[in-house]
Amino acid sequence: MVAKRKLLAFFILGVLVVTLVACGNGEDDDVPEDELQEFTLDELAEYDGQDGADAYVAVDGYVYDVTDSAQWTDGSHQGEVTAGADLTQELEDNPQHGEEMLDNVPRIGILVDEDDEADDNDELQEYTLDELSAYDGQDGADAYVAVDGYVYDVTDSAQWTDGSHQGEVTAGADLTQELEDNPQHGAEMLDNVPKIGILVDEDTDGAPEYDENGYDSNGY
Ligand code: HEM
Ligand code: HEM
Repeated sequence: MVAKRKLLAFFILGVLVVTLVACGNGEDDDVPEDELQEFTLDELAEYDGQDGADAYVAVDGYVYDVTDSAQWTDGSHQGEVTAGADLTQELEDNPQHGEEMLDNVPRIGILVDEDDEADDNDELQEYTLDELSAYDGQDGADAYVAVDGYVYDVTDSAQWTDGSHQGEVTAGADLTQELEDNPQHGAEMLDNVPKIGILVDEDTDGAPEYDENGYDSNGY
Protein backbone atom coordinates (compact mmCIF):
# COMPACT_ATOMS: atom_id res chain seq x y z
CA MET A 1 0.00 0.00 0.00
CA VAL A 2 2.75 2.40 1.03
CA ALA A 3 4.80 1.39 -1.98
CA LYS A 4 1.84 2.03 -4.29
CA ARG A 5 1.39 5.51 -2.84
CA LYS A 6 5.06 6.28 -3.32
CA LEU A 7 4.81 5.13 -6.91
CA LEU A 8 1.78 7.37 -7.47
CA ALA A 9 3.60 10.31 -5.90
CA PHE A 10 6.56 9.79 -8.23
CA PHE A 11 4.25 9.50 -11.20
CA ILE A 12 2.50 12.78 -10.39
CA LEU A 13 5.85 14.48 -9.84
CA GLY A 14 7.05 13.17 -13.18
CA VAL A 15 4.03 14.50 -15.04
CA LEU A 16 4.49 17.86 -13.35
CA VAL A 17 8.14 18.14 -14.34
CA VAL A 18 7.43 17.18 -17.94
CA THR A 19 4.60 19.74 -18.11
CA LEU A 20 6.78 22.50 -16.67
CA VAL A 21 9.65 21.79 -19.06
CA ALA A 22 7.27 21.73 -22.01
CA CYS A 23 5.80 25.09 -21.01
CA GLY A 24 9.24 26.56 -20.47
CA ASN A 25 10.14 25.67 -24.04
CA GLY A 26 7.13 27.54 -25.38
CA GLU A 27 7.21 27.95 -29.16
CA ASP A 28 7.30 31.72 -29.03
CA ASP A 29 11.09 31.97 -28.44
CA ASP A 30 10.80 34.91 -26.09
CA VAL A 31 14.14 36.54 -25.33
CA PRO A 32 14.98 36.48 -21.57
CA GLU A 33 13.96 39.70 -19.82
CA ASP A 34 17.53 40.88 -19.21
CA GLU A 35 18.54 40.34 -22.83
CA LEU A 36 15.74 42.35 -24.37
CA GLN A 37 17.04 44.90 -26.84
CA GLU A 38 16.05 48.55 -26.43
CA PHE A 39 14.19 50.34 -29.20
CA THR A 40 13.14 53.95 -29.46
CA LEU A 41 10.03 54.67 -31.54
CA ASP A 42 12.39 56.03 -34.18
CA GLU A 43 14.36 52.80 -34.35
CA LEU A 44 11.20 50.71 -34.28
CA ALA A 45 9.91 52.56 -37.35
CA GLU A 46 12.63 50.94 -39.45
CA TYR A 47 11.16 47.51 -38.78
CA ASP A 48 8.04 47.98 -40.85
CA GLY A 49 8.34 44.74 -42.83
CA GLN A 50 8.69 46.65 -46.10
CA ASP A 51 11.39 46.01 -48.72
CA GLY A 52 12.75 42.98 -46.90
CA ALA A 53 12.97 44.65 -43.50
CA ASP A 54 11.95 42.66 -40.44
CA ALA A 55 8.55 43.50 -38.95
CA TYR A 56 8.40 44.52 -35.28
CA VAL A 57 5.47 45.88 -33.31
CA ALA A 58 5.34 47.39 -29.82
CA VAL A 59 2.56 46.78 -27.30
CA ASP A 60 2.60 47.95 -23.68
CA GLY A 61 6.29 48.75 -23.69
CA TYR A 62 7.44 45.45 -25.23
CA VAL A 63 8.60 44.85 -28.79
CA TYR A 64 7.48 41.71 -30.66
CA ASP A 65 8.89 40.20 -33.84
CA VAL A 66 6.06 39.42 -36.26
CA THR A 67 8.35 38.89 -39.26
CA ASP A 68 7.65 35.16 -39.46
CA SER A 69 3.95 35.36 -38.75
CA ALA A 70 1.71 34.34 -41.65
CA GLN A 71 -0.76 36.90 -40.29
CA TRP A 72 1.68 39.75 -40.91
CA THR A 73 2.66 39.85 -44.59
CA ASP A 74 5.30 42.50 -45.34
CA GLY A 75 4.41 44.08 -42.03
CA SER A 76 0.75 44.46 -42.87
CA HIS A 77 -1.85 42.76 -40.66
CA GLN A 78 -5.37 42.06 -41.85
CA GLY A 79 -5.27 45.22 -43.92
CA GLU A 80 -5.78 47.05 -40.64
CA VAL A 81 -2.46 47.80 -39.02
CA THR A 82 1.19 47.95 -40.06
CA ALA A 83 4.39 47.06 -38.24
CA GLY A 84 7.15 49.45 -37.15
CA ALA A 85 4.94 51.25 -34.65
CA ASP A 86 3.53 51.22 -31.15
CA LEU A 87 0.18 49.48 -31.62
CA THR A 88 -0.93 49.40 -27.98
CA GLN A 89 -3.98 51.55 -28.68
CA GLU A 90 -4.87 49.73 -31.89
CA LEU A 91 -4.79 46.39 -30.07
CA GLU A 92 -6.98 47.73 -27.27
CA ASP A 93 -9.48 49.02 -29.82
CA ASN A 94 -9.42 45.75 -31.76
CA PRO A 95 -12.64 43.76 -31.33
CA GLN A 96 -11.14 40.72 -33.10
CA HIS A 97 -8.66 39.59 -30.46
CA GLY A 98 -6.78 40.63 -27.34
CA GLU A 99 -3.20 40.53 -26.13
CA GLU A 100 -3.19 36.73 -25.94
CA MET A 101 -2.24 36.72 -29.66
CA LEU A 102 1.13 38.18 -28.66
CA ASP A 103 1.97 34.82 -27.07
CA ASN A 104 2.25 33.47 -30.62
CA VAL A 105 5.15 35.72 -31.55
CA PRO A 106 8.61 36.19 -29.95
CA ARG A 107 9.03 39.05 -27.52
CA ILE A 108 12.41 40.53 -28.43
CA GLY A 109 12.71 44.01 -26.96
CA ILE A 110 11.49 46.90 -24.90
CA LEU A 111 10.39 50.32 -26.02
CA VAL A 112 12.39 53.16 -24.46
CA ASP A 113 12.01 56.94 -24.44
CA GLU A 114 13.85 58.76 -27.16
CA ASP A 115 16.11 60.49 -24.66
CA ASP A 116 17.25 57.32 -22.91
CA GLU A 117 19.29 56.76 -26.01
CA ALA A 118 20.23 60.38 -26.52
CA ASP A 119 23.72 61.73 -26.09
CA ASP A 120 25.05 60.45 -22.78
CA ASN A 121 26.15 63.97 -21.95
CA ASP A 122 22.52 64.91 -21.37
CA GLU A 123 22.43 62.85 -18.21
CA LEU A 124 25.79 63.82 -16.82
CA GLN A 125 25.68 66.19 -13.87
CA GLU A 126 27.59 69.44 -14.08
CA TYR A 127 30.36 70.26 -11.60
CA THR A 128 32.42 73.38 -11.19
CA LEU A 129 35.95 72.97 -9.82
CA ASP A 130 34.59 74.40 -6.57
CA GLU A 131 31.86 71.77 -6.32
CA LEU A 132 34.28 69.02 -7.33
CA SER A 133 36.63 69.90 -4.47
CA ALA A 134 33.99 68.74 -1.96
CA TYR A 135 34.33 65.19 -3.35
CA ASP A 136 37.81 64.53 -2.03
CA GLY A 137 37.05 61.18 -0.39
CA GLN A 138 37.88 62.56 3.06
CA ASP A 139 35.67 62.16 6.14
CA GLY A 140 33.25 59.87 4.38
CA ALA A 141 32.80 62.10 1.34
CA ASP A 142 32.61 60.47 -2.11
CA ALA A 143 35.72 60.70 -4.24
CA TYR A 144 35.42 62.25 -7.72
CA VAL A 145 38.16 63.19 -10.15
CA ALA A 146 38.02 65.19 -13.37
CA VAL A 147 39.97 64.35 -16.52
CA ASP A 148 39.56 66.06 -19.91
CA GLY A 149 36.29 67.75 -18.94
CA TYR A 150 34.62 64.64 -17.53
CA VAL A 151 34.04 63.74 -13.88
CA TYR A 152 34.61 60.17 -12.69
CA ASP A 153 33.50 58.50 -9.47
CA VAL A 154 36.43 56.65 -7.87
CA THR A 155 34.71 56.20 -4.49
CA ASP A 156 34.40 52.44 -4.86
CA SER A 157 37.79 51.84 -6.43
CA ALA A 158 40.20 49.84 -4.29
CA GLN A 159 42.96 51.90 -5.92
CA TRP A 160 41.58 55.10 -4.40
CA THR A 161 41.41 54.82 -0.60
CA ASP A 162 39.82 57.84 1.05
CA GLY A 163 40.40 59.75 -2.17
CA SER A 164 44.11 59.04 -2.22
CA HIS A 165 45.66 57.15 -5.16
CA GLN A 166 49.02 55.43 -4.95
CA GLY A 167 50.22 58.12 -2.57
CA GLU A 168 50.53 60.32 -5.64
CA VAL A 169 47.27 62.12 -6.32
CA THR A 170 44.10 62.97 -4.41
CA ALA A 171 40.47 63.21 -5.52
CA GLY A 172 38.33 66.34 -5.65
CA ALA A 173 40.38 67.96 -8.39
CA ASP A 174 41.01 68.16 -12.12
CA LEU A 175 43.80 65.61 -12.65
CA THR A 176 44.09 65.89 -16.43
CA GLN A 177 47.68 67.10 -16.24
CA GLU A 178 48.66 64.59 -13.54
CA LEU A 179 47.33 61.74 -15.65
CA GLU A 180 49.19 62.98 -18.72
CA ASP A 181 52.39 63.12 -16.69
CA ASN A 182 51.82 59.69 -15.16
CA PRO A 183 54.19 57.06 -16.55
CA GLN A 184 52.28 54.23 -14.84
CA HIS A 185 49.13 54.22 -16.95
CA GLY A 186 47.03 56.20 -19.37
CA ALA A 187 43.41 57.29 -19.64
CA GLU A 188 42.30 53.70 -20.31
CA MET A 189 42.13 53.20 -16.51
CA LEU A 190 39.16 55.57 -16.50
CA ASP A 191 37.11 52.85 -18.22
CA ASN A 192 37.20 51.02 -14.87
CA VAL A 193 35.27 53.73 -13.03
CA PRO A 194 31.85 55.30 -13.71
CA LYS A 195 31.74 58.52 -15.70
CA ILE A 196 29.20 60.62 -13.83
CA GLY A 197 29.58 64.25 -14.80
CA ILE A 198 31.14 67.04 -16.79
CA LEU A 199 33.34 69.82 -15.57
CA VAL A 200 31.94 73.29 -16.28
CA ASP A 201 33.30 76.77 -15.90
CA GLU A 202 32.50 78.47 -12.62
CA ASP A 203 30.15 80.96 -14.27
CA THR A 204 28.36 78.71 -16.76
CA ASP A 205 25.28 78.33 -14.64
CA GLY A 206 24.97 81.98 -13.62
CA ALA A 207 25.03 85.37 -15.25
CA PRO A 208 28.48 86.82 -15.82
CA GLU A 209 29.95 88.15 -12.63
CA TYR A 210 30.65 91.87 -12.54
CA ASP A 211 33.17 93.53 -10.30
CA GLU A 212 32.41 96.63 -8.24
CA ASN A 213 33.03 98.81 -11.32
CA GLY A 214 30.45 96.96 -13.38
CA TYR A 215 32.97 95.10 -15.54
CA ASP A 216 32.94 91.36 -16.06
CA SER A 217 36.14 89.30 -16.07
CA ASN A 218 36.76 90.25 -19.69
CA GLY A 219 36.66 93.94 -18.83
CA TYR A 220 33.28 94.68 -20.46
C1 HEM B 1 -7.19 46.14 -35.92
C2 HEM B 1 -7.61 45.05 -36.42
C3 HEM B 1 -7.06 43.68 -36.23
C4 HEM B 1 -7.66 42.58 -36.76
C5 HEM B 1 -8.89 42.56 -37.61
C6 HEM B 1 -6.86 41.44 -36.39
C7 HEM B 1 -7.14 40.13 -36.74
C8 HEM B 1 -6.37 39.04 -36.44
C9 HEM B 1 -6.70 37.69 -36.79
C10 HEM B 1 -7.95 37.24 -37.54
C11 HEM B 1 -5.71 36.89 -36.35
C12 HEM B 1 -5.61 35.39 -36.45
C13 HEM B 1 -6.22 34.83 -35.22
C14 HEM B 1 -5.97 33.35 -35.03
O1 HEM B 1 -4.94 32.84 -35.53
O2 HEM B 1 -6.77 32.74 -34.32
C15 HEM B 1 -4.75 37.74 -35.71
C16 HEM B 1 -3.57 37.31 -35.14
C17 HEM B 1 -2.65 38.14 -34.53
N1 HEM B 1 -2.78 39.50 -34.33
FE1 HEM B 1 -4.27 40.67 -34.96
N2 HEM B 1 -5.80 41.84 -35.62
C18 HEM B 1 -5.90 43.21 -35.50
C19 HEM B 1 -5.02 44.01 -34.82
C20 HEM B 1 -3.85 43.59 -34.19
C21 HEM B 1 -2.95 44.44 -33.47
C22 HEM B 1 -3.12 45.94 -33.25
C23 HEM B 1 -1.94 43.68 -33.02
C24 HEM B 1 -0.80 44.20 -32.22
C25 HEM B 1 0.41 43.99 -32.37
C26 HEM B 1 -2.20 42.31 -33.49
C27 HEM B 1 -1.37 41.22 -33.27
C28 HEM B 1 -1.65 39.93 -33.69
C29 HEM B 1 -0.76 38.82 -33.50
C30 HEM B 1 0.62 38.86 -32.84
C31 HEM B 1 -1.40 37.70 -34.02
C32 HEM B 1 -0.84 36.26 -34.01
C33 HEM B 1 -0.04 36.03 -35.23
C34 HEM B 1 0.39 34.59 -35.37
O3 HEM B 1 -0.22 33.68 -34.79
O4 HEM B 1 1.35 34.37 -36.13
N3 HEM B 1 -3.38 42.31 -34.17
N4 HEM B 1 -5.19 39.05 -35.77
C1 HEM C 1 50.60 59.90 -10.65
C2 HEM C 1 50.83 58.67 -10.38
C3 HEM C 1 49.90 57.53 -10.56
C4 HEM C 1 50.26 56.25 -10.30
C5 HEM C 1 51.60 55.78 -9.81
C6 HEM C 1 49.12 55.41 -10.59
C7 HEM C 1 49.10 54.04 -10.47
C8 HEM C 1 48.01 53.23 -10.67
C9 HEM C 1 48.01 51.81 -10.55
C10 HEM C 1 49.22 50.93 -10.19
C11 HEM C 1 46.78 51.38 -10.83
C12 HEM C 1 46.29 49.94 -10.86
C13 HEM C 1 46.51 49.45 -12.25
C14 HEM C 1 45.83 48.13 -12.53
O1 HEM C 1 44.83 47.79 -11.88
O2 HEM C 1 46.29 47.46 -13.47
C15 HEM C 1 45.97 52.52 -11.13
C16 HEM C 1 44.63 52.48 -11.45
C17 HEM C 1 43.87 53.61 -11.72
N1 HEM C 1 44.32 54.90 -11.79
FE1 HEM C 1 46.21 55.54 -11.44
N2 HEM C 1 48.08 56.17 -11.04
C18 HEM C 1 48.51 57.49 -11.03
C19 HEM C 1 47.78 58.57 -11.41
C20 HEM C 1 46.44 58.57 -11.76
C21 HEM C 1 45.71 59.72 -12.15
C22 HEM C 1 46.24 61.14 -12.25
C23 HEM C 1 44.44 59.32 -12.42
C24 HEM C 1 43.37 60.23 -12.88
C25 HEM C 1 42.20 60.31 -12.46
C26 HEM C 1 44.39 57.87 -12.18
C27 HEM C 1 43.27 57.06 -12.31
C28 HEM C 1 43.24 55.71 -12.11
C29 HEM C 1 42.07 54.91 -12.22
C30 HEM C 1 40.66 55.39 -12.53
C31 HEM C 1 42.46 53.59 -11.98
C32 HEM C 1 41.55 52.35 -12.03
C33 HEM C 1 40.96 52.12 -10.68
C34 HEM C 1 40.19 50.82 -10.59
O3 HEM C 1 40.37 49.92 -11.40
O4 HEM C 1 39.37 50.71 -9.66
N3 HEM C 1 45.64 57.45 -11.80
N4 HEM C 1 46.76 53.64 -11.05
